[in-house]
Amino acid sequence: MVHAVDTRRSVPETGGHYPADTDLSSMTDALFDPFTLRETTIPNRIALSPMCQYSAKEGVATDWHRVHLGTRAVGGAGLVMTEATAVEPRGRITPDCLGIWSDEHAAALEPIVSFVKSQGAVPAIQLAHAGRKGSHAPPSAGGHALPVDHKDGWETYSATDAPYPGEETAATSRMDEDDIAALIEAFTDAAVRSLEAGFEVAEVHAAHGYLLHQFLSPVTNDREDDYGGSFENRTRIVCEVVEAVRAVWPDDKPVFVRISATDWLPDRESWDVDDSVRLAPLLAEAGTDLIDVSGGGIHPDQQLPNAGPGYQVPYAEAIREATDIPVAAVGKVTEPAHADALVRNGRTDLVALGRELLRNPYWPLEAAHELGVDVEWPVQYRRGRFE
Ligand SMILES: Cc1cc2nc3c(=O)[nH]c(=O)nc-3n(C[C@H](O)[C@H](O)[C@H](O)COP(=O)(O)O)c2cc1C
Repeated sequence: MVHAVDTRRSVPETGGHYPADTDLSSMTDALFDPFTLRETTIPNRIALSPMCQYSAKEGVATDWHRVHLGTRAVGGAGLVMTEATAVEPRGRITPDCLGIWSDEHAAALEPIVSFVKSQGAVPAIQLAHAGRKGSHAPPSAGGHALPVDHKDGWETYSATDAPYPGEETAATSRMDEDDIAALIEAFTDAAVRSLEAGFEVAEVHAAHGYLLHQFLSPVTNDREDDYGGSFENRTRIVCEVVEAVRAVWPDDKPVFVRISATDWLPDRESWDVDDSVRLAPLLAEAGTDLIDVSGGGIHPDQQLPNAGPGYQVPYAEAIREATDIPVAAVGKVTEPAHADALVRNGRTDLVALGRELLRNPYWPLEAAHELGVDVEWPVQYRRGRFE
């Protein structure tokens, strides 16, 4: 193990502050240390977790994306990731979701990416396909499924022809092998466009019950062909997608994959943490440099664990410990000392923040102050530095 937990100094993970005489500089791998994957260096361990903004026009990024992503870069996040960005129109969750299926989409993202880089952050794109969880109204309009004959709806496809439970009005169709080949091509084309737009990290979204997860999980994969049944068959498509993205993604730039480590369905045959640990080396072999570890989303019966601070961290830690593959952990991390301790204690390589960065885009700058770390502020904001 490169990052054995017991070789490093343990620090408390429940918040609170270090004693004034703590010499933080003597510790290794802390929240504000850079992290290099391939030849790409992320300046610190804080990532903006992908979050749908429902603010695109026909999949094209708008001023909202410029401000949303740009502000988090100004705020000091080391990695700034887009929301789920559809590789084809029917891969969107809602009509207002972001996409990258044409040059126009890439061109709209390019100045945003350029600004993110100007702030020293590494720009990342989450490449996604919603499968049977596509064709929905945005949350602000109710979030319900839009049937195919609805003016804003479209036909979805999936690993299965069974619709999402409770959404029987929105029929889905089972992908055949031609559909699968076309999907892999769509991911490949999207990666090429992402590169043209300037992104430095491509993340394949295989979590939260979306299309690739629909193949991974036995809850949704009822196929009898080479893409269903056995573990090897169910994981085939995600490995093929990663291989295809890796083939066009430069050697010096990392590819991430986001997975749901567990379906949270202990009462039935489902995807669980052991499956994730088994999948991780296959993903690495396909060209994955980091696994972004989330949970759930495949079925409405899921039993969420008691969602306290860092509730999903044990999944990331399990994968990291068993496989030595770098991970990002996510889930209700809000306290600087907690985030710092997760890195210091070797439980994760990156800490992804979602809702906390919605509340406070300047969280990284504030966290650095709270932890006593001297970080560069944007020159325009230096007068706002803590005294
Ligand atoms: C508004 C919102 C939109 C989200 N959209 C995405 C998404 O596009 N892709 C994704 O992988 N996760 C998405 N998530 C999940 C977050 O990335 C993150 O994993 C989750 O919010 C847990 O982290 P947190 O407790 O720090 O918010 C979304 C979460 C929120 C709150």
